[in-house]
Amino acid sequence: MTEIEIRELVIPASEGAPGWDELVARTELFNTIVREVVDSPDLLETPQQTLAWATGEYVISRMFGAYDGASLVGIAEFTLERGHSVCWGWVGVAVDHRRAGLGSRLADRLYTCAEQAGATTMEAGTTHSELEGGERLSSPVSPGSVPADAASVQFLLSQGFRLGQVDVTSGLTLPVPDELLDELWRTARPSEDYELIDWAGPTPEELIDGYARLRTVVSTAVPAGELKVDESVWDAARVREADESNARAGSITITTVARHRDSGELVGFTRLGYPAAATGEAAAQGYTLVLPEHRGHNLGLKIKINNLRRLNAVDHGASRVTTGNADENAAMLAINRALGFRPFLVHGLWQKPL
Ligand SMILES: CC(C)(COP(=O)(O)OP(=O)(O)OC[C@H]1O[C@@H](n2cnc3c(N)ncnc32)[C@H](O)[C@@H]1OP(=O)(O)O)[C@@H](O)C(=O)NCCC(=O)NCCS
Repeated sequence: MTEIEIRELVIPASEGAPGWDELVARTELFNTIVREVVDSPDLLETPQQTLAWATGEYVISRMFGAYDGASLVGIAEFTLERGHSVCWGWVGVAVDHRRAGLGSRLADRLYTCAEQAGATTMEAGTTHSELEGGERLSSPVSPGSVPADAASVQFLLSQGFRLGQVDVTSGLTLPVPDELLDELWRTARPSEDYELIDWAGPTPEELIDGYARLRTVVSTAVPAGELKVDESVWDAARVREADESNARAGSITITTVARHRDSGELVGFTRLGYPAAATGEAAAQGYTLVLPEHRGHNLGLKIKINNLRRLNAVDHGASRVTTGNADENAAMLAINRALGFRPFLVHGLWQKPL
């Protein structure tokens, strides 16, 4: 094999800007690696989506490419939310260049990035379509597990990472029958103290502060197993930036919030996104939260039903919705199961103190 050269990539400021061609090549290799790990189109990215998560004023991102001559054969990616101590790292190596130390060389670049940015923990993820069977490595906090012999698992263990949580990705075939949604709505507990409000696209200005508060709370409210988590502080400007970034990435979001009638406070939300161009790509369910003091009124179920009804009314072309949940999040998993979501992937979430 020729000498493999690792170079830092320029992350383009916008589509077509300097660095764009390398980013497109990066996304092609990323998708090739994802397709080989999981036989599902749902985790594939477009270059526009890559650009959306890698840019913006709230994150520091760096990317490295490993080149065998002119061809890209490996990627390393680093992201850190500004002010956070936990960064995210991902390494991918083309299948014919594995077990030659390239993954380890790329990971070293990420540890240097973390040190330069002041991060003290690195998080990484592994994705598996084998939900059970074979030798398993168990979550420290739930019945969930990942296949112990997967290359990604062995690689992270060799790098000194520890499994901190197992997540489950589930899919729901669309359209969800209206009768099922109506039936679930009828069996839900009444909650006259609350009203539901929904919208598609950018967050309405009059709701933006309340929505930002929910986004801050949700960053630390979801079960995190044994993972270290930093709070993400959201304000109106950050909500606007995220809305614009979603639109640039080709996604239309549908959001439902629950508002407490007496206080006017927003107490719960759920958001999903679907591709603006009807590509057939899956719609993605994002966060769902009900503030602890407002739980027990079936609001979590109702806001999800409302969002799915809104989705049913749109000509979106998506054949299913996917969602990820912590394996120990029994409340959310029960709601999802009732709606018809079925697991098809498990994710290991790993951390390494630096
Ligand atoms: C995980 C991945 C990046 C490893 O890349 P790589 O170039 O093969 O890694 P290295 O050659 O540096 O391997 C380092 C060590 O990891 C372990 N390892 C890697 N692949 C392994 C495998 N298939 N089986 C057992 N151990 C393995 C070994 O301990 C290896 O050391 P050794 O070869 O001296 O025994 C590569 O398999 C890949 O791209 N997988 C898909 C992407 C992915 O899942 N990334 C998630 C991790 S962030």
